[in-house]
Amino acid sequence: METIDWKNIGFGYIPTDHNVRCTFTNGAWGELRTHDDAYLNLHMAASCLHYAQEAFEGLKAFRGVDGKIRIFRMEENAKRLQDSCKGIMMPELPIDKFKEAILKVVKLNERFIPPYESGASLYIRPMIIGTTALVGVKPANEYEFIVFVTPVGPYFKGGFQATPFMLSRKYDRAAPLGTGMYKIGGNYASGMAAGVHAHEMGYSAIFYLDPKEKKYIDECGAANFFGIKGNTYLTPKSSSILPSITNRSLMTLAKDLGMTVEHRPIAVEELETLDEAGACGTAAVISPITKIDDIDYGHSYVFSHDGKPGPKCTELYNHLRGIQYGEKADKFGWITIVE
Ligand code: PLP
Ligand code: COI
Repeated sequence: METIDWKNIGFGYIPTDHNVRCTFTNGAWGELRTHDDAYLNLHMAASCLHYAQEAFEGLKAFRGVDGKIRIFRMEENAKRLQDSCKGIMMPELPIDKFKEAILKVVKLNERFIPPYESGASLYIRPMIIGTTALVGVKPANEYEFIVFVTPVGPYFKGGFQATPFMLSRKYDRAAPLGTGMYKIGGNYASGMAAGVHAHEMGYSAIFYLDPKEKKYIDECGAANFFGIKGNTYLTPKSSSILPSITNRSLMTLAKDLGMTVEHRPIAVEELETLDEAGACGTAAVISPITKIDDIDYGHSYVFSHDGKPGPKCTELYNHLRGIQYGEKADKFGWITIVE
Protein backbone atom coordinates (compact mmCIF):
# COMPACT_ATOMS: atom_id res chain seq x y z
CA MET A 1 0.00 0.00 0.00
CA GLU A 2 1.42 3.39 -0.88
CA THR A 3 1.71 5.45 2.29
CA ILE A 4 -1.31 7.61 2.98
CA ASP A 5 -0.80 11.04 4.50
CA TRP A 6 -3.63 10.48 6.99
CA LYS A 7 -3.63 14.03 8.35
CA ASN A 8 -4.09 15.61 4.94
CA ILE A 9 -6.59 13.42 3.13
CA GLY A 10 -9.67 15.21 1.88
CA PHE A 11 -13.10 13.81 1.07
CA GLY A 12 -12.16 11.90 -2.04
CA TYR A 13 -11.75 8.33 -3.17
CA ILE A 14 -8.72 6.30 -2.15
CA PRO A 15 -8.77 2.70 -3.42
CA THR A 16 -9.08 -0.02 -0.76
CA ASP A 17 -8.69 -3.80 -0.92
CA HIS A 18 -12.15 -5.35 -0.97
CA ASN A 19 -15.82 -4.58 -1.43
CA VAL A 20 -18.82 -6.68 -0.44
CA ARG A 21 -21.79 -7.43 -2.69
CA CYS A 22 -25.10 -9.24 -2.67
CA THR A 23 -27.52 -9.91 -5.51
CA PHE A 24 -31.31 -9.80 -5.50
CA THR A 25 -32.80 -12.14 -8.06
CA ASN A 26 -35.93 -14.34 -8.30
CA GLY A 27 -37.51 -12.32 -5.51
CA ALA A 28 -34.80 -12.89 -2.88
CA TRP A 29 -31.49 -11.53 -1.63
CA GLY A 30 -28.60 -14.01 -1.92
CA GLU A 31 -25.44 -14.48 0.14
CA LEU A 32 -22.78 -11.80 0.68
CA ARG A 33 -19.76 -12.07 -1.58
CA THR A 34 -16.33 -10.45 -1.30
CA HIS A 35 -14.83 -8.81 -4.41
CA ASP A 36 -11.39 -7.34 -5.06
CA ASP A 37 -12.42 -5.63 -8.27
CA ALA A 38 -13.67 -2.06 -8.00
CA TYR A 39 -15.54 -2.33 -11.32
CA LEU A 40 -19.03 -3.65 -12.07
CA ASN A 41 -20.05 -5.67 -15.06
CA LEU A 42 -23.30 -3.88 -15.82
CA HIS A 43 -25.73 -4.07 -18.73
CA MET A 44 -25.94 -0.75 -20.57
CA ALA A 45 -29.74 -0.82 -20.25
CA ALA A 46 -29.64 -1.38 -16.45
CA SER A 47 -32.43 0.62 -14.80
CA CYS A 48 -30.02 2.41 -12.45
CA LEU A 49 -28.21 3.99 -15.40
CA HIS A 50 -31.27 5.37 -17.18
CA TYR A 51 -33.91 5.97 -14.59
CA ALA A 52 -31.73 6.43 -11.49
CA GLN A 53 -33.10 3.44 -9.63
CA GLU A 54 -30.37 3.76 -7.03
CA ALA A 55 -30.23 4.40 -3.31
CA PHE A 56 -27.18 4.81 -1.10
CA GLU A 57 -26.03 5.40 2.42
CA GLY A 58 -23.05 6.99 4.14
CA LEU A 59 -21.65 6.07 7.54
CA LYS A 60 -18.26 5.98 9.19
CA ALA A 61 -15.90 3.75 11.16
CA PHE A 62 -13.42 5.35 13.55
CA ARG A 63 -10.17 4.17 15.13
CA GLY A 64 -10.73 5.09 18.76
CA VAL A 65 -8.44 6.47 21.42
CA ASP A 66 -8.12 2.88 22.74
CA GLY A 67 -7.24 1.49 19.28
CA LYS A 68 -10.67 -0.14 18.89
CA ILE A 69 -12.74 0.28 15.73
CA ARG A 70 -16.12 1.92 16.23
CA ILE A 71 -19.00 2.15 13.75
CA PHE A 72 -21.57 4.88 14.40
CA ARG A 73 -25.32 4.05 14.38
CA MET A 74 -25.28 1.55 11.51
CA GLU A 75 -28.75 0.26 12.31
CA GLU A 76 -30.16 3.73 11.55
CA ASN A 77 -28.50 3.70 8.13
CA ALA A 78 -29.89 0.22 7.50
CA LYS A 79 -33.42 1.48 8.27
CA ARG A 80 -33.04 4.59 6.16
CA LEU A 81 -31.82 2.51 3.23
CA GLN A 82 -34.98 0.45 3.57
CA ASP A 83 -37.06 3.65 3.47
CA SER A 84 -35.22 4.82 0.36
CA CYS A 85 -35.79 1.42 -1.28
CA LYS A 86 -39.53 1.60 -0.57
CA GLY A 87 -39.56 5.14 -1.97
CA ILE A 88 -38.26 4.11 -5.38
CA MET A 89 -39.76 0.63 -5.65
CA MET A 90 -36.68 -1.41 -4.82
CA PRO A 91 -36.67 -4.48 -2.56
CA GLU A 92 -35.66 -3.72 1.03
CA LEU A 93 -32.40 -5.22 2.21
CA PRO A 94 -32.83 -6.98 5.59
CA ILE A 95 -31.25 -5.02 8.44
CA ASP A 96 -29.12 -7.96 9.57
CA LYS A 97 -27.70 -8.44 6.09
CA PHE A 98 -26.82 -4.75 5.94
CA LYS A 99 -25.03 -4.94 9.30
CA GLU A 100 -23.20 -8.14 8.36
CA ALA A 101 -21.97 -6.52 5.14
CA ILE A 102 -20.77 -3.40 6.97
CA LEU A 103 -18.84 -5.40 9.57
CA LYS A 104 -17.34 -7.59 6.86
CA VAL A 105 -16.17 -4.74 4.62
CA VAL A 106 -14.69 -2.81 7.56
CA LYS A 107 -12.78 -5.85 8.84
CA LEU A 108 -11.52 -6.73 5.35
CA ASN A 109 -10.17 -3.21 4.91
CA GLU A 110 -8.97 -2.64 8.45
CA ARG A 111 -5.59 -1.35 7.32
CA PHE A 112 -7.32 1.64 5.70
CA ILE A 113 -8.90 2.90 8.91
CA PRO A 114 -7.05 6.12 9.66
CA PRO A 115 -5.15 6.31 12.97
CA TYR A 116 -6.84 8.03 15.89
CA GLU A 117 -4.46 11.00 15.93
CA SER A 118 -5.25 11.93 12.31
CA GLY A 119 -8.85 12.93 12.99
CA ALA A 120 -9.77 11.13 9.74
CA SER A 121 -12.13 8.15 9.45
CA LEU A 122 -13.21 5.35 7.16
CA TYR A 123 -16.23 6.33 5.07
CA ILE A 124 -18.56 3.43 4.31
CA ARG A 125 -20.68 3.69 1.18
CA PRO A 126 -23.45 1.09 0.80
CA MET A 127 -25.67 1.30 -2.28
CA ILE A 128 -28.36 -0.61 -4.12
CA ILE A 129 -28.74 -0.41 -7.89
CA GLY A 130 -31.37 -1.76 -10.28
CA THR A 131 -29.55 -3.98 -12.78
CA THR A 132 -32.30 -5.38 -15.03
CA ALA A 133 -31.92 -4.39 -18.69
CA LEU A 134 -35.01 -2.26 -19.33
CA VAL A 135 -36.08 0.49 -21.62
CA GLY A 136 -39.62 0.86 -20.31
CA VAL A 137 -39.92 2.92 -17.15
CA LYS A 138 -40.63 0.35 -14.45
CA PRO A 139 -38.85 -1.18 -11.48
CA ALA A 140 -36.07 -3.68 -12.16
CA ASN A 141 -36.36 -7.34 -11.20
CA GLU A 142 -32.68 -7.70 -10.27
CA TYR A 143 -30.66 -5.55 -7.91
CA GLU A 144 -27.10 -5.39 -6.63
CA PHE A 145 -26.18 -4.27 -3.14
CA ILE A 146 -22.57 -3.11 -2.94
CA VAL A 147 -20.57 -1.69 -0.03
CA PHE A 148 -17.15 -0.14 -0.41
CA VAL A 149 -15.05 1.91 1.96
CA THR A 150 -12.57 4.72 1.55
CA PRO A 151 -10.58 6.75 4.08
CA VAL A 152 -11.74 10.37 4.34
CA GLY A 153 -10.82 13.66 5.95
CA PRO A 154 -13.06 16.74 6.23
CA TYR A 155 -15.89 17.27 3.73
CA PHE A 156 -15.79 21.07 3.76
CA LYS A 157 -12.35 22.60 3.56
CA GLY A 158 -10.74 23.26 6.90
CA GLY A 159 -12.79 20.69 8.85
CA PHE A 160 -14.16 22.22 12.03
CA GLN A 161 -13.85 25.78 10.79
CA ALA A 162 -16.64 28.14 9.99
CA THR A 163 -17.25 28.81 6.28
CA PRO A 164 -19.85 30.81 4.28
CA PHE A 165 -22.93 29.35 2.55
CA MET A 166 -25.02 30.71 -0.32
CA LEU A 167 -28.81 30.99 -0.35
CA SER A 168 -30.65 31.21 -3.65
CA ARG A 169 -34.29 30.63 -4.55
CA LYS A 170 -33.27 29.69 -8.08
CA TYR A 171 -32.61 26.09 -7.13
CA ASP A 172 -34.53 23.22 -5.56
CA ARG A 173 -33.01 19.82 -4.81
CA ALA A 174 -36.37 18.13 -4.41
CA ALA A 175 -40.06 18.65 -5.17
CA PRO A 176 -42.69 19.24 -2.42
CA LEU A 177 -44.16 15.75 -2.79
CA GLY A 178 -41.03 14.30 -4.37
CA THR A 179 -38.14 12.21 -3.11
CA GLY A 180 -36.18 14.68 -0.96
CA MET A 181 -36.57 12.50 2.14
CA TYR A 182 -34.83 9.54 0.49
CA LYS A 183 -31.11 9.10 0.00
CA ILE A 184 -31.17 8.40 -3.71
CA GLY A 185 -28.76 9.33 -6.48
CA GLY A 186 -31.35 11.37 -8.39
CA ASN A 187 -31.53 13.99 -5.64
CA TYR A 188 -27.81 14.61 -5.91
CA ALA A 189 -27.96 15.02 -9.69
CA SER A 190 -30.67 17.67 -9.12
CA GLY A 191 -28.40 19.51 -6.72
CA MET A 192 -25.25 19.41 -8.83
CA ALA A 193 -25.73 22.73 -10.69
CA ALA A 194 -26.59 24.59 -7.47
CA GLY A 195 -23.55 23.12 -5.69
CA VAL A 196 -21.17 24.06 -8.49
CA HIS A 197 -22.63 27.58 -8.64
CA ALA A 198 -22.09 28.00 -4.88
CA HIS A 199 -18.50 26.72 -5.09
CA GLU A 200 -17.73 29.01 -8.02
CA MET A 201 -18.94 31.94 -5.94
CA GLY A 202 -16.59 30.93 -3.10
CA TYR A 203 -19.18 29.29 -0.82
CA SER A 204 -18.99 25.88 0.85
CA ALA A 205 -22.47 24.83 -0.25
CA ILE A 206 -25.91 25.88 -1.38
CA PHE A 207 -28.62 26.58 1.14
CA TYR A 208 -32.11 25.50 0.03
CA LEU A 209 -35.50 26.88 0.99
CA ASP A 210 -38.62 24.71 0.97
CA PRO A 211 -39.62 24.00 -2.63
CA LYS A 212 -43.31 24.80 -2.16
CA GLU A 213 -43.43 28.27 -0.63
CA LYS A 214 -39.75 29.28 -0.57
CA LYS A 215 -40.46 30.55 2.90
CA TYR A 216 -38.86 28.01 5.20
CA ILE A 217 -35.35 26.68 5.60
CA ASP A 218 -34.73 23.21 4.18
CA GLU A 219 -31.12 22.01 4.21
CA CYS A 220 -27.68 22.86 2.91
CA GLY A 221 -25.85 20.91 0.23
CA ALA A 222 -25.44 17.36 1.49
CA ALA A 223 -26.16 18.21 5.12
CA ASN A 224 -28.99 19.24 7.44
CA PHE A 225 -29.08 22.71 8.98
CA PHE A 226 -29.24 23.69 12.63
CA GLY A 227 -29.10 26.97 14.47
CA ILE A 228 -28.42 27.94 18.05
CA LYS A 229 -30.53 30.61 19.71
CA GLY A 230 -29.55 31.18 23.34
CA ASN A 231 -29.83 27.76 24.91
CA THR A 232 -31.99 26.33 22.12
CA TYR A 233 -30.98 23.93 19.33
CA LEU A 234 -33.21 24.71 16.38
CA THR A 235 -33.54 22.55 13.28
CA PRO A 236 -36.01 22.54 10.37
CA LYS A 237 -38.86 20.07 10.08
CA SER A 238 -39.62 19.55 6.40
CA SER A 239 -40.86 16.73 4.21
CA SER A 240 -38.34 17.54 1.48
CA ILE A 241 -35.12 17.08 3.47
CA LEU A 242 -33.14 13.96 4.32
CA PRO A 243 -33.73 12.82 7.91
CA SER A 244 -30.12 13.13 9.05
CA ILE A 245 -28.83 10.64 11.59
CA THR A 246 -26.20 13.14 12.72
CA ASN A 247 -28.89 15.78 13.27
CA ARG A 248 -30.98 13.36 15.28
CA SER A 249 -27.91 12.51 17.36
CA LEU A 250 -27.17 16.20 17.93
CA MET A 251 -30.76 16.76 19.11
CA THR A 252 -30.25 14.00 21.68
CA LEU A 253 -26.88 15.41 22.74
CA ALA A 254 -28.26 18.96 22.96
CA LYS A 255 -31.03 17.78 25.30
CA ASP A 256 -28.48 15.84 27.33
CA LEU A 257 -26.39 19.01 27.64
CA GLY A 258 -29.41 20.82 29.08
CA MET A 259 -30.43 22.63 25.91
CA THR A 260 -33.96 22.97 24.58
CA VAL A 261 -34.58 21.39 21.19
CA GLU A 262 -37.02 22.80 18.66
CA HIS A 263 -37.65 20.72 15.54
CA ARG A 264 -40.13 22.74 13.49
CA PRO A 265 -40.53 24.76 10.30
CA ILE A 266 -38.14 27.72 10.45
CA ALA A 267 -38.94 30.79 8.38
CA VAL A 268 -35.95 32.22 6.54
CA GLU A 269 -36.23 35.56 8.42
CA GLU A 270 -35.60 33.69 11.65
CA LEU A 271 -31.98 33.27 10.53
CA GLU A 272 -31.57 36.87 11.69
CA THR A 273 -32.12 35.80 15.29
CA LEU A 274 -29.61 32.95 15.49
CA ASP A 275 -26.41 33.15 17.54
CA GLU A 276 -24.71 30.23 15.78
CA ALA A 277 -25.42 28.02 12.80
CA GLY A 278 -24.03 24.84 11.34
CA ALA A 279 -24.40 22.15 8.70
CA CYS A 280 -24.43 18.59 10.00
CA GLY A 281 -24.11 15.16 8.49
CA THR A 282 -21.91 12.08 8.36
CA ALA A 283 -19.53 13.74 5.91
CA ALA A 284 -19.98 17.29 7.25
CA VAL A 285 -19.92 16.23 10.95
CA ILE A 286 -20.62 19.75 12.25
CA SER A 287 -19.47 22.36 9.78
CA PRO A 288 -20.06 25.73 11.41
CA ILE A 289 -21.37 28.52 9.18
CA THR A 290 -19.92 32.04 9.29
CA LYS A 291 -22.71 33.59 7.25
CA ILE A 292 -25.42 32.80 4.74
CA ASP A 293 -25.49 35.22 1.82
CA ASP A 294 -28.93 35.55 0.25
CA ILE A 295 -27.73 36.33 -3.27
CA ASP A 296 -31.27 37.01 -4.56
CA TYR A 297 -31.77 39.94 -2.18
CA GLY A 298 -28.14 40.86 -1.48
CA HIS A 299 -28.57 40.23 2.25
CA SER A 300 -26.18 38.47 4.66
CA TYR A 301 -27.16 36.55 7.76
CA VAL A 302 -24.00 36.61 9.88
CA PHE A 303 -23.40 34.08 12.67
CA SER A 304 -19.69 34.44 13.33
CA HIS A 305 -17.86 37.77 13.24
CA ASP A 306 -14.44 36.35 14.05
CA GLY A 307 -14.70 33.37 11.66
CA LYS A 308 -14.55 30.92 14.57
CA PRO A 309 -17.08 28.23 15.54
CA GLY A 310 -19.36 29.34 18.38
CA PRO A 311 -19.33 27.79 21.89
CA LYS A 312 -22.45 25.60 21.50
CA CYS A 313 -21.33 24.25 18.11
CA THR A 314 -17.97 23.46 19.67
CA GLU A 315 -19.53 21.71 22.67
CA LEU A 316 -21.80 19.60 20.46
CA TYR A 317 -18.94 18.79 18.11
CA ASN A 318 -16.70 17.67 20.97
CA HIS A 319 -19.42 15.44 22.39
CA LEU A 320 -20.24 13.81 19.07
CA ARG A 321 -16.59 13.24 18.14
CA GLY A 322 -15.87 12.11 21.69
CA ILE A 323 -18.42 9.32 21.41
CA GLN A 324 -17.27 8.37 17.91
CA TYR A 325 -13.60 8.12 18.93
CA GLY A 326 -14.28 6.41 22.25
CA GLU A 327 -13.18 9.36 24.38
CA LYS A 328 -16.65 9.73 25.89
CA ALA A 329 -19.03 7.07 27.16
CA ASP A 330 -21.44 5.68 24.58
CA LYS A 331 -24.41 6.39 26.82
CA PHE A 332 -27.02 6.17 24.05
CA GLY A 333 -25.83 2.85 22.58
CA TRP A 334 -24.79 4.36 19.25
CA ILE A 335 -21.54 2.48 18.79
CA THR A 336 -20.77 -0.97 17.41
CA ILE A 337 -17.25 -2.08 18.31
CA VAL A 338 -15.71 -4.21 15.57
CA GLU A 339 -14.11 -7.24 17.20
N1 PLP B 1 -28.89 15.82 3.89
C1 PLP B 1 -28.38 15.33 2.77
C2 PLP B 1 -28.98 15.76 1.48
C3 PLP B 1 -27.32 14.40 2.81
O1 PLP B 1 -26.78 13.91 1.69
C4 PLP B 1 -26.80 14.01 4.05
C5 PLP B 1 -25.73 13.02 4.13
O2 PLP B 1 -25.94 11.89 4.40
C6 PLP B 1 -27.37 14.55 5.22
C7 PLP B 1 -28.40 15.46 5.10
C8 PLP B 1 -26.88 14.14 6.57
O3 PLP B 1 -27.38 12.89 6.93
P1 PLP B 1 -26.58 11.94 7.91
O4 PLP B 1 -26.34 12.72 9.15
O5 PLP B 1 -27.47 10.79 8.15
O6 PLP B 1 -25.32 11.58 7.23
C1 COI C 1 -22.90 11.78 3.89
O1 COI C 1 -22.79 12.67 4.72
O2 COI C 1 -22.77 10.59 4.17
C2 COI C 1 -23.18 12.06 2.52
O3 COI C 1 -23.69 11.21 1.87
C3 COI C 1 -22.84 13.36 2.00
C4 COI C 1 -22.27 13.35 0.61
C5 COI C 1 -20.89 12.82 0.53
C6 COI C 1 -23.21 12.82 -0.41
